[in-house]
Amino acid sequence: QHTVLTGITTTGTPHLGNYVGAIKPAIRASLDPDTASFFFLADYHALIKCEDPERVRQSTLEIASTWLALGLDPEAVTFYRQSDVPEITELTWILTCSTAKGLMNRAHAYKAAVQDNTDAGEDPDHAITMGLFSYPILMAADILMFNADKVPVGRDQVQHLEMARDIAARFNHRFGELFVLPEAVVEEHVATLPGHDGRKMSKSYNNTIPLWLPEKQLRKSIMKIVTNSLEPGEPKDPDEGALFPIFAAFADQAQRDDMRQAFADGIAWGQAKQQVFELINAELAEARARYEALIADTAAVEAVLLRGAEKARAAAAPLLQRAREAVGIRKLA
Ligand code: TYM
Repeated sequence: QHTVLTGITTTGTPHLGNYVGAIKPAIRASLDPDTASFFFLADYHALIKCEDPERVRQSTLEIASTWLALGLDPEAVTFYRQSDVPEITELTWILTCSTAKGLMNRAHAYKAAVQDNTDAGEDPDHAITMGLFSYPILMAADILMFNADKVPVGRDQVQHLEMARDIAARFNHRFGELFVLPEAVVEEHVATLPGHDGRKMSKSYNNTIPLWLPEKQLRKSIMKIVTNSLEPGEPKDPDEGALFPIFAAFADQAQRDDMRQAFADGIAWGQAKQQVFELINAELAEARARYEALIADTAAVEAVLLRGAEKARAAAAPLLQRAREAVGIRKLA
């Protein structure tokens, strides 16, 4: 019996990296009848990076519609918006009080923000919010609240999972065994999907391929993936550049082997890109039509989320009681 949980921050339009790194493995794991699944929209996390309220609202709707279009069954899993479950933010404070500041100092995202601000000649202590600094504690609460043991994520989230384990272990050590120590589940072929320019596909690098581009634009976006100047007929190295890894994330073993051979045989870049487009488009075409319908029906998506929030709150309440009692806070009536 496993509990699988994962979330996506609602700051942007979902991209291929979110799909192959988190959504696809999560939905696959949720089909196992011995698994309880919790999938959510991390809208409190969004506040850390985004000061545009309309963007947060729109992104929440887009990401919710994405999960549903890709076949998530909201009856079989618990699917909710983080901010609809106040138990999570309450647990965040309890965990904040037993988490060492030094653990947060080590977070890659925080260290990168310090570096970026310093490079830009700004004072990081002024520019960086406490939200950004303590972000990993909110993420730990997301996971520990439901005693999830498996967390499907891309490689960029692995450090946050290690921190969630540290936070849980320290709490357990002080107050008694309450939390399960979660584990990251990272798929080998898709751990870090590169974007157009070869760096990690990321909203903050502006190099994403959005998941729901209409067919023509998807093709155009794939044609923009940066390659080198090797001519048709010249052998190409699949381990160099973004094109092969993007193909590999959608391909099965036989398709990967064939493409490696085609690279060795000197396939033209344009032709290789066309094959990447066809593979990705074939996987997404049907879901794209469902997405278009869902995104136009805000009320239906909202109803799904509110029902999910009820389920999530019911699941969270008993453990929150125990956490409150463990630290000496009155048990809720
Ligand atoms: P976020 O919103 O940045 O990304 C959502 C998920 O997509 C994965 N991902 C990628 N995977 C492979 N290649 C890429 N280029 C790529 N880009 C993004 C991420 O690894 C992630 O799995 N803090 C999290 C959200 C979160 C969460 C949680 C996740 C909040 N609470 C609890 C798991 C459990 C985040 O910002 O992900």
